Amino acid sequence: MKFFIDTANLDQIREAQDLGVLDGVTTNPSLMAKEGIKGQENILNHYKNICEIVDGDVSAEVISTDYAGMIKEGEMLAALHPQIVVKIPMIKEGIKAIKYLTSKGIRTNCTLVFSLGQALLAAKAGATYVSPFIGRLDDISTDGVALIRQIVEMYNFYGYETEVLAASIRHTMHIIQCLEAGADVATCPLSAILGLLNHPLTDSGLEKFLADYKKVNG
Ligand code: G3P
Repeated sequence: MKFFIDTANLDQIREAQDLGVLDGVTTNPSLMAKEGIKGQENILNHYKNICEIVDGDVSAEVISTDYAGMIKEGEMLAALHPQIVVKIPMIKEGIKAIKYLTSKGIRTNCTLVFSLGQALLAAKAGATYVSPFIGRLDDISTDGVALIRQIVEMYNFYGYETEVLAASIRHTMHIIQCLEAGADVATCPLSAILGLLNHPLTDSGLEKFLADYKKVNG
């Protein structure tokens, strides 16, 4: 399973990249706003900066909600850097835009996906990635990870090539559950990735190894 970091914070992206296990980055307008990135020029520069830090795919989201606007923005974002994947919302115009951008060889990430039917449309339109938001489903007492499992099973059964990118991951256990569900990618906050490191037996085991070494070697 690939790991993307779900942030527009350059320090966190660098920290994840330095760990050596990062495969890409996802952003969205809320994450960009959180970092105070505003104005088209600054936003585009920020995407380029992210691409300079990481080796893998970087999802950059369109703001338009009409077909022509999404196409125009999508082409502009894709032209910024070869690592850019254009993030398009799961709406009627978005599906049409994904179909068009795919036909032009531009990679897309269909975002705000909350149902199996939406995932089917994204795959049929040729999206590179589909992003089901598992945390937001959990927030309304619906099993987000179960949706990942359903989409993976459906894509495998019908042979769709769209990759399942589990998004809205809130904690480390979500990552484990996405692994078990067969997600192709999990996009996570840095804290959830770092949480994978933790085990008390690792800590106590290391402490004992070092203490035993010291006993003999001083
Ligand atoms: O990847 C989508 C993500 O940024 C949304 O996360 O926590 O706002 O539901 P959240």
